[in-house]
Amino acid sequence: MPSLKEIKQPVAAEIKAFQKVFREAVRSKVPLLDVIMRYILKAKGKQMRPLFVIYSAALFDNINPSTYRAATLVELMHTATLVHDDVVDDSDQRRGRFSVNYLWKNKIAVLAGDYLLSRGMLLALENKDFEVLEIVSRAVKDMSEGELLQLEKARKLNIDEEVYYEIIRKKTASLLASCFATGATSAGVGKTEAEKMRLIGEYAGMAFQIKDDLFDFQKTNETGKPSGIDIKEKKMTLPLIYLLNQSTSSKRRKLINIIKNHNTDTEKVAWLMEQVNQSGGMAYTKSKMLEFKNKALDLLNEFPEKQARTALEQLIEYTIERRK
Ligand code: IPE
Ligand code: IPE
Ligand code: MG
Ligand code: MG
Repeated sequence: MPSLKEIKQPVAAEIKAFQKVFREAVRSKVPLLDVIMRYILKAKGKQMRPLFVIYSAALFDNINPSTYRAATLVELMHTATLVHDDVVDDSDQRRGRFSVNYLWKNKIAVLAGDYLLSRGMLLALENKDFEVLEIVSRAVKDMSEGELLQLEKARKLNIDEEVYYEIIRKKTASLLASCFATGATSAGVGKTEAEKMRLIGEYAGMAFQIKDDLFDFQKTNETGKPSGIDIKEKKMTLPLIYLLNQSTSSKRRKLINIIKNHNTDTEKVAWLMEQVNQSGGMAYTKSKMLEFKNKALDLLNEFPEKQARTALEQLIEYTIERRK
């Protein structure tokens, strides 16, 4: 299985071109914004979404300036939602550094996120990338709905497996889907093919978020984000949902009580984690992740074989094999 660096290598020049557009898009003359944008530019993240956009365009043999703008738009929306997400999740780490909200507090993080969102919209509008902007705007709408649905469920603690999938489809898979759809659209394909690409990205995005949720159950991880904050935020993800479904009603009450009233009690939370492990919840979750990954790969294989398709396959594999 090739590393992310190896997967990026054939499109190194294209990634550079995207990074230049991205850097220019976030420039600000307002000193505080300038400082925050520089901070964000320093810790880039994996930049998987731009890579999906670039290889999706390459699948149709047409990487062009609108591809770089689509990649930038998606990465700007992603970055904006991460800055907001860390406020919502009260998280102090991102990409191995302090989060924006930790360093500058919530008020400034909210506004910095808004700034990134508006710069993305302007970039697309100034270049009349209407189709791409429509695809990505729908994804951002879905993300807000997904994050809100998740918050609502964290209050009521009445989540089931289907609702979990709805949440992750909206909050994460929608943007991954838009990478595939906008990459293809930037290459000039028609609606039918773009829709097929969108669906591949959606399946890959489901697997991507399930992987992220598995990281949270590890004692330590290399993601540059804290572990174990989902329970603290009463966020019930698939391993836990599985355990609840397997439990007797009295045990379920006990588990819910921990999530609701003792979610910062290390001993009680450790016990709960242990129950998740013993229930087979991790194995079940992994099997679901593989199902989504395979759906993505099966659809992708309907396109003719070429280097860009292989790269997309490798990226989808990386999504579930990654250690960060
Ligand atoms: C994190 O996405 C947010 C989720 C949808 C789980 P990434 O793992 O792609 O974050 P960066 O951009 O590499 O930091
Ligand atoms: C995914 O949510 C990020 C967004 C949809 C904005 P999470 O809260 O699960 O992601 P991480 O783990 O903080 O990156
Ligand atoms: Mg969140
Ligand atoms: Mg979060």
